[in-house]
Amino acid sequence: MSKVTVVGAGNVGATCANVLAVNEVASEIVLIDIKEGLSEGKAMDIMQTAQLMGFDSVVRGVTNDYAATANSDVVIITSGIPRKPGMTREELIGVNAGIVKSVAENILKHSPNAILIIVSNPMDTMAYLSYKVLGLPRERVIGMGGALDSSRFKYFLSQALGCNANEVEGIVIGGHGDTTMIPLARLATYKGIPVSTLLSAEKLEEVVKNTMVGGATLTGLLGTSAWMAPGAAASFVAESIIKDQKKVITSSIYLNGEYGMKDINIGVPVIIGRKGIEKVIELDLTQDERAKFEASAEAVRKTNYVLAEMKLI
Ligand code: LAC
Repeated sequence: MSKVTVVGAGNVGATCANVLAVNEVASEIVLIDIKEGLSEGKAMDIMQTAQLMGFDSVVRGVTNDYAATANSDVVIITSGIPRKPGMTREELIGVNAGIVKSVAENILKHSPNAILIIVSNPMDTMAYLSYKVLGLPRERVIGMGGALDSSRFKYFLSQALGCNANEVEGIVIGGHGDTTMIPLARLATYKGIPVSTLLSAEKLEEVVKNTMVGGATLTGLLGTSAWMAPGAAASFVAESIIKDQKKVITSSIYLNGEYGMKDINIGVPVIIGRKGIEKVIELDLTQDERAKFEASAEAVRKTNYVLAEMKLI
């Protein structure tokens, strides 16, 4: 028996609940939202696919009833507003920070042992806020960004190579922002072969650029932020926890000296298992990558300062 709660039944939350159910990540999935009837409707819609898709997980939707989320093993927070075309993720802080703080506090009252996955934007700052206000060990507060950004990186790499995205390895570190994420082209491989030997420097640069604005491109096309890959990426992280898969997933975690940094949540590769973050992997970055990582951290810190201005931390 395992239980996962998804907070927020918007596009990302509902897609995440759907992927959790189809992949039978947990036996019980609770979808909660403040909008009357929304979670109930989305959950019922998902459950009406159970026979078609052949899954046994049970999805239940509730309106604002935190008691129904009690004793969750994992809680995925997607609450808040998405961005509109032309907006950055950082611009969402004014609305989303207060929402994420109160949601996280409510969740913890009913699931004191849960591992939290933070999806709401600006994600690195929302993960930092959750870590700062909840007093949980850092192993249990995981910002979801790298799973999504790395999947997008692998998609663009596979497009450039003309191959299956599952044959490609690639990681994206740094902040989950259009200018702060760092796709590590140097370490990307196609079946173990460095992609730098298969693609021209120009092509690789284009892949990196497309990855960085991957979310913004979709926001432009869709009129709101993407939800398929974000929802699936959150489920992917939850699955590594619930099934103790110990996958290496870049996640926004609170750094405590690793990468020479403290008091910040930012994306670095970690091993994720039943205890949450089980190991931080310290990559040996080149000077150029290191400079980009530091600039990325500086930008994330700037957004974090807003939390203090808002008197949230
Ligand atoms: C994206 C948003 C969800 O990257 O952050 O699509």
